[in-house]
Amino acid sequence: MTGLPSVLSVVGARPNFMKLAPVARALATRGSRHVIVHTGQHYDPEMSDAFFRDLQLPRPDHALGVGSGSHAQQTAAVMQGLEPVLLAERPDVVLVYGDVNSTVAAALVSAKLQIKVAHVEAGLRSRDRTMPEELNRIVTDHLADLLLAPSRDALENLSQEGIPADRVHFVGNVMIDSLKVALPAARALAMPRRMGLGTGGYTVVTLHRPANVDQPDTLAELLTTLSRLSKDGPVLFPVHPRTRAQIARLNGKATVDGVRLLDPLPYLEMLGLVWEADLVITDSGGLQEETTWLGVPCVTVRPTTERPITCVAGTNRLVAPRCDAITLAARDARIARPANPPMLERWDGGTGDRIAAVLCDGARFD
Ligand code: UD1
Repeated sequence: MTGLPSVLSVVGARPNFMKLAPVARALATRGSRHVIVHTGQHYDPEMSDAFFRDLQLPRPDHALGVGSGSHAQQTAAVMQGLEPVLLAERPDVVLVYGDVNSTVAAALVSAKLQIKVAHVEAGLRSRDRTMPEELNRIVTDHLADLLLAPSRDALENLSQEGIPADRVHFVGNVMIDSLKVALPAARALAMPRRMGLGTGGYTVVTLHRPANVDQPDTLAELLTTLSRLSKDGPVLFPVHPRTRAQIARLNGKATVDGVRLLDPLPYLEMLGLVWEADLVITDSGGLQEETTWLGVPCVTVRPTTERPITCVAGTNRLVAPRCDAITLAARDARIARPANPPMLERWDGGTGDRIAAVLCDGARFD
């Protein structure tokens, strides 16, 4: 008996893995028992194994293998798969990360078994309930016993929803821990050279939100926009499996001429491209934060963001999925590129340690 709590982390989708890595390291340093459950929400090697490798994560102790399905199917499959694992492992606390279906499913099963739930990345709100992630965030935060917030606006959101302040800790942004650790290795890959990119600047694109890729007209307009932008410089687009399937369904009805469509990139290769990019166009949550920390201009193709701090910091701007809006924002973002990356409070590489201190020592971070 160490006196330390036994912790069980549940992860399932690509953006969970970089949030888990710093916490796993900090718990290992303290000698806390830490069990990792992979739900299998993401299962392609480039969406999962490559991230475990790049982030030097230990192999999961349990793999639920839930795979894809409707929201209800996927959430239910995680719940059914996780319940017997929790009953067997009996952890003191279950850690859940971010806002994917695996997150909310794990929070619900744990709360019903009366196991303490800690939510990493608590309190973010877009106030857009058409996004499944917003529903996942709200439900998870209201089930959680410990809410580990990345930024001060998140504290404000939780307070407005009546969540008691003594459950909430301002630990900072854990993704930045992973980014800081990985950056030297990512830079050493010399990705721009490996990809044959010249010195004139290039754009990196990721798009996978249903609102952008599931409607053929919207997706076609986005692809045409990228094709036009490629006349001004290389456009590299690592394509999420959901988006790849939707592009195939367009049957060549939209041009992708000039755009370099790539397979999804592992963490280090992606970071190696993004840190030297001229511009990022995305609908990802994580990239909005990574570009802010790196000081790389970002155009986010969404009407809202749960990470408004990235817009306030000046690196990120939101646009509609229209050619004129994106073209204009891309130009403005490049012009307004900050001379130095913005400094955000507790986006400093120490968040994994603060989370471990909350869990193991009962530390407080206001
Ligand atoms: C999920 C998250 C989203 C996150 C994204 C990161 C939810 C509700 N959504 O969206 O918040 O930004 O992950 O990538 O949890 N597929 C594969 N191989 C895989 C995984 C998925 O081919 O390894 C395909 C399947 O056809 C699947 C589709 O992609 O149906 C969507 O996958 P899913 O996990 O349901 O949602 P994402 O769009 O990845």
